[in-house]
Amino acid sequence: MKVPCVALEILLMSLSILFQSPEVVHGRRHTRRGAFPLPHLDDSLLNHHRRSQEHENESFELLMGKGKSRYSDSPSDYPSQEPSGRSNFPQDPSATAAPTFIPTPAPAVVTIESPSTSSPITSLDPFEDMPMVTIPALPTPAPTFAQPPIREVSDKTNPTSTPSNKLERVSATLVDMLSPFSYDFDSWIFDESSYQFKALLRTTEQQGVDQFSSSKILQYWVLYCLYFSTNGDGNDLDMNTSTTARQPNASPGWKNTEGWESTNLDPCQDKWFGIVCDVQSQVTGVRLQRNGLNGVFPFEIVFLAAAGSYHKEGVGNLRRLEVFSNEDLMRSNSSDLLLESLVGLEVLNYRETKFGQNGPIPKLPYTLQEFDCSYASHTGPIPEESFAGLNVLVFASLDGNDFQSSLPTSLVSLQNIQYLTVRNSSLVGTLFYMENMTSIVEHSADKNPQLSGPLFTFLGNLPNLRSLSASDCSLTGTIPVELAMPNLVQLWLHGNSLQGTIPSVFSNIEELRILTLEDNSLSGTVPFDLCLSTYNNDLSALSVDCDTPVDCSAFFPDCCMCCGRDGCGS
Ligand SMILES: *[C@@H]1O[C@H](CO)[C@@H](O)[C@H](O)[C@H]1NC(C)=O
Ligand SMILES: *[C@@H]1O[C@H](CO)[C@@H](O)[C@H](O)[C@H]1NC(C)=O
Ligand SMILES: *[C@@H]1O[C@H](CO)[C@@H](O)[C@H](O)[C@H]1NC(C)=O
Ligand SMILES: *[C@@H]1O[C@H](CO)[C@@H](O)[C@H](O)[C@H]1NC(C)=O
Ligand SMILES: *[C@@H]1O[C@H](CO)[C@@H](O)[C@H](O)[C@H]1NC(C)=O
Repeated sequence: MKVPCVALEILLMSLSILFQSPEVVHGRRHTRRGAFPLPHLDDSLLNHHRRSQEHENESFELLMGKGKSRYSDSPSDYPSQEPSGRSNFPQDPSATAAPTFIPTPAPAVVTIESPSTSSPITSLDPFEDMPMVTIPALPTPAPTFAQPPIREVSDKTNPTSTPSNKLERVSATLVDMLSPFSYDFDSWIFDESSYQFKALLRTTEQQGVDQFSSSKILQYWVLYCLYFSTNGDGNDLDMNTSTTARQPNASPGWKNTEGWESTNLDPCQDKWFGIVCDVQSQVTGVRLQRNGLNGVFPFEIVFLAAAGSYHKEGVGNLRRLEVFSNEDLMRSNSSDLLLESLVGLEVLNYRETKFGQNGPIPKLPYTLQEFDCSYASHTGPIPEESFAGLNVLVFASLDGNDFQSSLPTSLVSLQNIQYLTVRNSSLVGTLFYMENMTSIVEHSADKNPQLSGPLFTFLGNLPNLRSLSASDCSLTGTIPVELAMPNLVQLWLHGNSLQGTIPSVFSNIEELRILTLEDNSLSGTVPFDLCLSTYNNDLSALSVDCDTPVDCSAFFPDCCMCCGRDGCGS
C-alpha cells in the first residue's frame, strides 16, 4: 500500500530520537495495524466502577472503551467469562429450545398514592462510596386485602408430608405481611403448578420454619418465587405430582443453585448463590447473571425493595439487580410497575435478556446510578418518563435496541450522566441531543445509520467530554476545529460522510490517543504536526483513507496506523 522510502525512514528515525526514546517508537510500530490499545479515560470514574463491582467486574466491561471492538459490538464479540459455580450441570438436549414455561397471570396490585409525608429514611446504604439518596417514606395504605381461604393440603397431594397446619401458618403469615397491598393470592393459591405455590411449599419445608420471623418467611417466599418463576429447578420436579421425568423442551434449570435447593440454609447467613445481604439479613443484591434463568422474572421481587411502598423491614434492601446474559429471561406483565417500585435500587443490569419484550424502556426507579439494558429487545421511542428524575444516574448503556427515535430530553438533561452508549440502536436525528450534556465524559453512538447531520461546534464546549464515538453513522459536514478539546482522548468518526480536511489543531491535544477517520470523504494531507503526534504524543491510533483521498505519507511514510476501511480491520 505504501512505498517504503529509505530517506524518509531515516528522517523519521532521527525525529523519533529527537522526541522520544526508540523503544517507544518500536512499541508504537508493534501495535500498528493491530488492535488499538484503549486507554482508561477517567481514573476517578474507573475507580467508582471498580468499587461498585467489588464482587464481580464483568458488568461494565464496555466502560471507557474497554472491550470495544471497532467494527462489531454484537454481544457475541464480548469477552465471555466462564460461568462461576458448577461447570458440569446436566446439559439438556433441548437447552436451546424455547422454554415451555407458561407465565401465570400477573398479580393485580394497587398503585400506592403519592407520599403525603417526606420524612427521609436513614441511610441503609452498604455501599459507602455511593452518593446517598434520600428516599421519602410512603404512608402505609389502608389494608384492602381480604383473607383468602387457605387450602388444606393433604399428604396425598404433598408427598413431602408437610403438616397442613404448618402450611396454613406460613400462608397466613404471608397474607398478613402482604395485607397492605391488594396482592392477589386467589390467582394462585389453589394452583399447585404456580410458582407462588411452589415457593410457598418450599418455604414451608425449611427446617425451623416455625421459629422464623414473619419477615424471614416473606424473604424465603419471594426468593423462591424468583427461583421457580425462572425455572431454577428446571421445571421438572413439580412436587412429584407427575411420575414422568423431565418433559421434552423442559428448561435445564439454573446453572448454579447452591443453597437454593436446601431446606436448612439461610439465604443470607449461608450465602445462597447470587444473593447478597446486609448485616440485618436483608437482601441487598440479586446477582444471577449468566445463570440460565428463563421464563418470567416475577413481580414479587418488589417486596425486596429497599424503600418505598413495597419495602418491608427485615426482608429486602435491594441495591443491585443483575440478571444480564440470561437470554430467555422475560419481564412479567406488570413489570413497568415492578422496576419503578424498586426504590433504592442503584444498579440494574438486564443486558442480553428479553426484558425489553419488544416494548419501550419502562419507568426506572429514581435512585438508579447504573443502568444497562443493551441487547434486551427494547423498541422505541424511549418514553420521557423512563429517565425522568434519575438525578443520580451516572452510567447508561442502551446498545443494541431498536429505538427508531432520538433520545428523550429527560435522559439527555440528566445532570450526572457521565457515560452513555447508544450504539446500534436505530437512533434517528442528529447529535443535537448532546447540546446540554455538560457532565458527559464518554458517549458512543456508533452504528446508527439514521443518525445524520453535522458535528456541531457546541460539542467542543462540553467541558467533560473525553471520548466521542460516532462511527458508522451518516454524519456530514466538516470536522470543526472546536472539536479539538484539550481533554479529548478518543474520537471515533470512521464510516461517515465527513468532508473537508483534517484540522491540524488535533496535534495540540496532548492526551489524544485515538482518532479514526477512515471511510469518509475527507481530502488533503494528514497535517505534519498530527503525523508527528503519533511519535511525539500519545496518539497511538490514527486511521484515515490514505493515499487517496487523504495523503498520509506526505511527511512520513508511516504516519497513519492503517489505511482505509479494509486496512483498518473491517
Ligand atoms: C475480573 O474478574 C476476573 C475473574 O472474576 C479476574 O480474573 C480479573 O482479575 C478481574 N479483573 C479486575 C480488573 O479486577
Ligand atoms: C445490532 O443489534 C442487533 C439487535 O438489535 C443485533 O442483532 C445485531 O447483530 C447488532 N449489529 C451489530 C453490527 O452489532
Ligand atoms: C421425587 O421422586 C423421586 C423418585 O422418583 C425421589 O428420588 C425424589 O426425592 C422425589 N422428590 C421430591 C421432592 O419428593
Ligand atoms: C402478558 O404477557 C404475555 C406474554 O408475555 C402476553 O401474551 C399477554 O398478552 C400479556 N398480557 C397482558 C394483559 O398484557
Ligand atoms: C438545552 O437547554 C436549553 C435551555 O434550557 C433548551 O432551550 C434546549 O432545548 C436544550 N437542548 C436540548 C437538546 O435539550
